[in-house]
Amino acid sequence: MPETRFAVLPVDTLSAIQEDRDAVYAELHDEIDLFQIEGRRSLVVLAHHLVVSGLKNRSFRSNKREAFFRTLAHHGIQDAARAALERVYDGWLMYMDPPEHPKYRTEVAEALQASRTHPGQEASELVSQAFATGEPQSITSTVSPAWLRSAMASIMGCSVVEYERMVELSKTLLEFFIGRTQIEEKDIGATLGAYRELGELLLAQQGRNGLVPLLLESLSADDPRRIPVIVSLIADTWEPVLALMTSGVFHGLSKQSGETLCDSAPSLEYLFQESSRYDTPFQLCNRVAEAGATLDAVDCQGGDRVLFVIGAANRDPRIFEEPREFRLERGARSKQVSFGHGPHYCLGARLAYDLCCTFWNDLREGMGKRRYGVASHRWRDVLGMRILDELVIVPVT
Ligand code: HEM
Repeated sequence: MPETRFAVLPVDTLSAIQEDRDAVYAELHDEIDLFQIEGRRSLVVLAHHLVVSGLKNRSFRSNKREAFFRTLAHHGIQDAARAALERVYDGWLMYMDPPEHPKYRTEVAEALQASRTHPGQEASELVSQAFATGEPQSITSTVSPAWLRSAMASIMGCSVVEYERMVELSKTLLEFFIGRTQIEEKDIGATLGAYRELGELLLAQQGRNGLVPLLLESLSADDPRRIPVIVSLIADTWEPVLALMTSGVFHGLSKQSGETLCDSAPSLEYLFQESSRYDTPFQLCNRVAEAGATLDAVDCQGGDRVLFVIGAANRDPRIFEEPREFRLERGARSKQVSFGHGPHYCLGARLAYDLCCTFWNDLREGMGKRRYGVASHRWRDVLGMRILDELVIVPVT
């Protein structure tokens, strides 16, 4: 294991990563393993072995409640509103520490497993229609979101309109909790309103068939996490799945030379596995250190923020040979951490791969005998997410 050095980074490192992720990751892997951003006690962890050991370590908590309430107190929010928010925040799974009973987690995982069905005729038909004209197709703004909405609605057991509203409300909640430094009274009202409406929408699905009713059944009515678990499943599904679906298509088609890339692949899933390593949809896992937590040789203070950059770990040359090459054959043996690691490992990883493979098959069917290639693409200019905002494919001869 290489020796870990601990360095103070200039504050603009994160913007440098945003501007040129590839170059910065490559350079930082070679130079240093662990950083402290000047004056902020924020650790940025890039090396694969440190990301893996940190995510496993329960002293790095994914619960940001404490920091959140310090912010609230700082802005003088009234006690009543604070108590109400605490109830909402308490149940926000992504920021909770793992439930005490493993049974709870197993039941959610089983419910997810049981929902693995082909998303249905409607989604496939949407793709066929989109390709009927043979015109250039914008995958990211038309075909894939329409397909995913329809697929997810059938998996969840609700209508497309209900699913769209659930995603919208979940995003409102998510935006409220992530990266917020300033909290105003009006935000609290909007947040609680969104939370209530979402709860009503979810409860209205009882008695139907699908993932939401299954989850409602598997969690007892007095479990305070009953609604929030499902909320976080919805909020967590949309963008990363869309990101992986489209980046898989991007890689699958852009290396085309007569055949598409995965025509020659040992398994279609390898395409999406390597895409999730190469263009990791969620680039970061956030944690807060408990007092006395140590990472490798570094002592952390309680409240230190730690950014585990899983996008960088997935390109660590000590683990991945020629990490900047897209290689299908890495396949299932790959040690990638795109879906996290340890107690918070993604509950929907299996479902995400299934959705991506099904989408690809529907897409190929929609293309008919025509061959398609990538005409243009644009990655979103953000640090935390690796997602295509534009992917236009055109028929090639
Ligand atoms: C390509 C798609 C996806 C990617 C890249 C992804 C990635 C991740 C990552 C990196 C984590 C760990 C977060 C952390 O440790 O802080 C995570 C957790 C989680 N994911 Fe996913 N996810 C995807 C799809 C899904 C889907 C489809 C679902 C549900 C249907 C889902 C549900 C969850 C949940 C509930 C957690 C939290 C688990 C916990 O905290 O114990 N994800 N996901």
